[in-house]
Amino acid sequence: MSEIGFALTGSFCTFERAIEQMKILRTAGHNVTPIMSFHAYNLDTKFGKAADFNKKIEDVCQNNIIHTIQNAEPIGPQKMFDILIIEPCSGNTLAKLAAGIVDTPVLMAAKSHLRNARPLLLGVSTNDALGNSAKNIGFLMNIKNIYFIPLGQDDIYRKPRSIVADFKLTEAAFHAALNGVQLQPIIKSY
Ligand SMILES: Cc1cc2nc3c(=O)[nH]c(=O)nc-3n(C[C@H](O)[C@H](O)[C@H](O)COP(=O)(O)O)c2cc1C
Repeated sequence: MSEIGFALTGSFCTFERAIEQMKILRTAGHNVTPIMSFHAYNLDTKFGKAADFNKKIEDVCQNNIIHTIQNAEPIGPQKMFDILIIEPCSGNTLAKLAAGIVDTPVLMAAKSHLRNARPLLLGVSTNDALGNSAKNIGFLMNIKNIYFIPLGQDDIYRKPRSIVADFKLTEAAFHAALNGVQLQPIIKSY
């Protein structure tokens, strides 16, 4: 049984897929603590109301959502998690992670967790992954203790620069990352 921090950022179209993975990890017997960025926690969008998603996430995880920077700060000092998963990880959060900016609960969680040299697993979901975010993905792939859920293009005709992690590989990537291994192949063909 592992202690898992499961963080969501503002790729709202993938929230249902992330919740499905939280369920799988819970059912496998892990303790899953949800963490949300300010935008993920607060914004109502065409994909659903924030309050509805937040309730569903707390119901699935049976833990309260960490949604403030001050509540994310103890994650490192208290060694709260064996692994931190950020899924979905937005282009915005990728860029800030790469730049060392810490201004959301999810980024605070990542900074706090990484100080213990424990694995951080990213599930990228962004339309500019092969554009502006490409440099950040490349940079983060080269950083110790950071792993990626295998990812691939999701709509080559309408969104040729978009990439989304294969959410179904979350559990496999999580086991690999806990053993210090990047699950391969890292690039999926859809
Ligand atoms: C409806 C909607 C869908 C969005 N989908 C995505 C997405 O899939 N990937 C992404 O990187 N940003 C997406 N965004 C933009 C992010 O929510 C925005 O960059 C936000 O600042 C992210 O903040 P966060 O990384 O702190 O959660 C979306 C925004 C909206 C309103």
